[in-house]
Amino acid sequence: MEFGCAWYPEHWPESRWPEDLRLMREARMSFVRMAEFAWSRIEPEEGRFELEWLERAVEAASAVGLRVVLGTPTASPPMWLVQKYPEVLAVGPSGLRRRPGSRSHYSPASERYRQHCRRAAEAMARRFGKHPAVLGWQIDNEYKSLSHDDDTRAQFQRWLAERHGTLEAMNRRFSLAYWSQEYTDWSQIPLPVPSADPFPDDWHHPSLKLEWRRFQTEMWRSYQAVQVETLRAHIDPRQWITHNFMGFFDGFDHYRLAADLDLVSWDSYVVGAQLDPHRTGAAHDLMRGLKRRNFWLMEMQPGPLNWRPVNGTPGPGEIRVMAWHAVGHGADAVSFWQWRSALGGQEQYFGTIMGPDGSPRPVFGEICALGAELERAAPFLDGTGPAPEVGLLHSYDSRWALDLQRHHEGFDPVAQLVEWYRPLRALGLDVEIVAPEAILDGLRLVVAPSLHIATTELAATLAEFVRRGGHLVLGPRSGMKDLDDALHPMRPPGPLAALAPATVTEFYALEQPVRVAGPAGTGEAHVWAEWLQPISGSCEVLLRYDQPGGWLDGKVACATHALGAGRVTMLGAWLDGPLMSALLAELASRAGAIPPFGPPPPGVEFCRRVAQERRSREVLVALNHGEEGRTISPGRRGRDALTGASHERFELPPRGIAVVVFEC
Ligand code: GAL
Repeated sequence: MEFGCAWYPEHWPESRWPEDLRLMREARMSFVRMAEFAWSRIEPEEGRFELEWLERAVEAASAVGLRVVLGTPTASPPMWLVQKYPEVLAVGPSGLRRRPGSRSHYSPASERYRQHCRRAAEAMARRFGKHPAVLGWQIDNEYKSLSHDDDTRAQFQRWLAERHGTLEAMNRRFSLAYWSQEYTDWSQIPLPVPSADPFPDDWHHPSLKLEWRRFQTEMWRSYQAVQVETLRAHIDPRQWITHNFMGFFDGFDHYRLAADLDLVSWDSYVVGAQLDPHRTGAAHDLMRGLKRRNFWLMEMQPGPLNWRPVNGTPGPGEIRVMAWHAVGHGADAVSFWQWRSALGGQEQYFGTIMGPDGSPRPVFGEICALGAELERAAPFLDGTGPAPEVGLLHSYDSRWALDLQRHHEGFDPVAQLVEWYRPLRALGLDVEIVAPEAILDGLRLVVAPSLHIATTELAATLAEFVRRGGHLVLGPRSGMKDLDDALHPMRPPGPLAALAPATVTEFYALEQPVRVAGPAGTGEAHVWAEWLQPISGSCEVLLRYDQPGGWLDGKVACATHALGAGRVTMLGAWLDGPLMSALLAELASRAGAIPPFGPPPPGVEFCRRVAQERRSREVLVALNHGEEGRTISPGRRGRDALTGASHERFELPPRGIAVVVFEC
């Protein structure tokens, strides 16, 4: 368990460094992250590297017992670089080149830019790749830049040519005879992004838009690979390589980028200063699911943000809850952004641990207490991680395709995911969010809010999981499209029909909620409803619509059937919260997915970490997010790692936390 913060020694006189580092140790921090925006100091002019100052900073940290995470500085190119090679600057959708004066304004596809990144990474890796205090490396910072320059467009066209082979094939797969969009030369293909002007021709083709996202993925992957390869050539194998992702950000397929990294880390900021434990919890689980391994929380706020209309400050005890929440979901490190803000610049008002005067802000006491707690709990948490029995399938392809044509403005695929996740967590079940292609061994119940894009290979993987005893739940809009974003020329769920209990006769974007009722409960469908046609009499109807006089009247909304040793359930509607909870509770119980510590009381969240080796220890992280004090009874006597006391029941005041250890 590591605890640290982002620190920018280049902002401060060296005479101040020892005091900062001493205060970090006072807060029981174990590492400090630096250099990810320091390119202008690392390479003040082309080819002249100055790393002595950074080495002194690393040494100073190491001297007080802090270890170091180094960032490659490539998110912020220095002025000399963009002045000399303006072609590395990103171009906006309307064709205007971005101006320097901020960050992340480079074109990640630019070969020239990549060469400079390689040189900077190499200089750093040669200097610090064997340094005993350096734990690992973060490449760049929050990949997000997007460029619409001619070179990127040419690369996109080449990438399409490689992927589709011939124009005829692409024209056919994308149905480009529609509106005479057929291409006769690869060079005709536009970037499918809106220009700045709201002309109707900005209504770009969805298949190309989907391909553009996939191209972004491969483009970022190769951008990242330049630095991964450069670092690996020089660093000690003990040092790991990561990138700090942004949770639900959907600019690329994170599974593909994470595959090339040793470790996933991410930056979690709580909008509105108040933690939504389910939305942030889902983001933690999504990040953990990228490699199906624990992750690092590389950035969290120690105070307010500075990019919201109103930047409220988290109340007393809330930072502690956010940190433990991440740990419960599988974080092996918690790190704050940032220690102290530069006196000038774009983020002067962002919450920090030190004030502009260099003295601790009020939150410092809480951060010291948190550091002490993490230190106390670390021996119990080391080697443990979540071990869910419930999986939630998440695919970037499906998410993009749904988002490109929502059909109902309320059909936000992330909101949908969270609405499926929330009731499972409220039941006390741990949830793993994984790619549909993941090997689903060890999971009893797998829910798929919307496998919009589905192939026969995916159907075969899921069928195998079910035949061996797994329970699968398919949500609305499943199996409608193929990989080219074309509608399958059969009734949904298309290839998934081989295992589904029903097919979809018709779908409806709902202008008004529709009543639904059945053995699973009573409530409303909103946003989306599908008229399901059960495939045989042997399938059980769990919900029907009740819309007198409408198309949906009396039609099936949810059906289930046994298949092999398992079960497949199909839900055609977006249900209200209580009915969704009732349905998932029923389906989880049929799947034998039992909350390991029972259902938590209202407002309380249970997270479980299990010792990966021999499962000899379980740790319950219980967090009271509510306004009322609660008592929890995890069903066994356990020892609170924070207080040392053993009990069968634990009292949790509002924002209270218990970290209960059970040795098995
Ligand atoms: C992150 C970024 C940090 C800092 C922080 C606060 O997105 O990685 O450098 O800007 O946000 O806004």
